[in-house]
Amino acid sequence: MRGDSKKGSLVCVGTGIQLAGQITIIAKSYIEEADIVFGVLPDPVAESWISDLNPNFVSLQSLYSESRSRKETYKDMVSALVSEVEQGKKVVGAFYGHPGVFAWAPHEAIRRLRAMGYEATMEPGISAEDCLFADLGIDPGASGCQGFETTQFLFYKHTLDLYSYVILWQIGLAGEWTLQSFATSKSNLEKTVSYLSRWYPLSHEVIIYEAPFLPTQQARIERFPLSELPDKKLQMSSTMVVPPLKKLELDEEGLKLFGLTVDDYKSTT
Ligand SMILES: C[S@@+](CC[C@H](N)C(=O)[O-])C[C@H]1O[C@@H](n2cnc3c(N)ncnc32)[C@H](O)[C@@H]1O
Repeated sequence: MRGDSKKGSLVCVGTGIQLAGQITIIAKSYIEEADIVFGVLPDPVAESWISDLNPNFVSLQSLYSESRSRKETYKDMVSALVSEVEQGKKVVGAFYGHPGVFAWAPHEAIRRLRAMGYEATMEPGISAEDCLFADLGIDPGASGCQGFETTQFLFYKHTLDLYSYVILWQIGLAGEWTLQSFATSKSNLEKTVSYLSRWYPLSHEVIIYEAPFLPTQQARIERFPLSELPDKKLQMSSTMVVPPLKKLELDEEGLKLFGLTVDDYKSTT
């Protein structure tokens, strides 16, 4: 503990996607040694597994409800974590996947506690994207990889790289701007296809991926033309992958900065 830290502390850990097998040794040890463990986990089986590691487990899932803004839910999660630390406890926030990936509450709780002088840290976990790379055989280094929250991608001016993979997180909430519903609609998916068709032909293959949460489940890897997206059944746990539209092309300008021509470079690779 840092010398100037107050007594309570927070560690946000990831539990991985698949139950039990994807948690890191350090995350498990933090959970076992905590005074209290708050959890956002994918299902009751995972919750019961964490409760076995530490009986002082409190699920934060009950904070979610239809017709309540998820923003309010996330603020309540932060308050729960922060207030126990303020009471001098060793608190663990156990979040499925990686606690810092598409997860506002852990980052915010850590920011707030550090600003108040408490020790607050994050331990990485295996995210859905890590499982995706393994199950789909995608190396993000091969031609690059961009990731967006789907609704943010639809509503903001992002620059799309057609040479890279594009990963659309929360496709199952595409266009769900009220933050009060837990599903998208066929109409929202039609609009998503229309937006993506600015860059991609409707025949471009996309992939819906769902990593298994339990060892007994299989991954969903469904490939289909972009045009068919509105007919697909999506879950909160669905992620969409859009493979590159274009093959990598050398950039003469970049090469010139290094005193190279396209032919020079090609002859070396
Ligand atoms: C709020 S984010 C949480 C991500 C999580 N922190 C992680 O590290 O993977 C939820 C989104 O993550 C992705 N996701 C979560 N579970 C998944 C799974 N089992 N398979 C594929 N994607 C998943 C989906 O895009 C989903 O909409």
